[in-house]
Amino acid sequence: MKIKFLGHSGFYIETLGKHLIFDPFITGNSLAEGIIDVKTLKADYILLTHGHGDHVADAETIALENKATIISNYEIVTWYGQKNIKGHGMNIGGKYSFDFGTVRYTTAIHSSVLPDGTYAGNPGGFIIQNEEATFYHAGDTALTLDMKLIPQLGYNLDFAILPIGDNFTMGYEDALIAATYFECDIIIGCHFNTFPPITIDTHKAREVFTKAGKKLLIPEVGKIVNVSL
Ligand code: NI
Ligand code: MN
Repeated sequence: MKIKFLGHSGFYIETLGKHLIFDPFITGNSLAEGIIDVKTLKADYILLTHGHGDHVADAETIALENKATIISNYEIVTWYGQKNIKGHGMNIGGKYSFDFGTVRYTTAIHSSVLPDGTYAGNPGGFIIQNEEATFYHAGDTALTLDMKLIPQLGYNLDFAILPIGDNFTMGYEDALIAATYFECDIIIGCHFNTFPPITIDTHKAREVFTKAGKKLLIPEVGKIVNVSL
């Protein structure tokens, strides 16, 4: 499994020969523009956690360029369907088997609306499970007790992608509690440093995790994230 950070909550993940892109926000993100070339990104599927601009910004461009399928909730997939983009609509708590693995659309405590003001349904996150790994991209969310359900549902997470920037989502202290709730030792941080209100001390964040016997990976835009599976 190859994992590359695209900035903010955006990730490119190559698994079982398929190319997945999560929450692409390159255009308008000064930390990613000039490093990530939207036109050359490969995608078979684009997974969108919710409708906010800092998560869907480049989804349309990438989808049209690659004839990719958008996986998100029903409302978001319907909105992209009107732009002649293929999609697979889901809703909270449901799972579905794709050719790259099983996807569960999970709860997230946040808000959601599409860039033109269209209702975007409830925000969510994704648990992906296949022969290579099981991982969780939480999307934008507060710390929630629902995360305790993840191991109870039988998921043994190899790693999880969690927001750590605070203000709009949980911060890194809460992310550590989340990691204990879903029993995972390797966390990749996202949704930090893109805007002033979510600027954090990444050294301190890493330290807090290390002290608790867990690992917080702070990804660099355009770089491969090594989770050593
Ligand atoms: Ni959001
Ligand atoms: Mn966001």
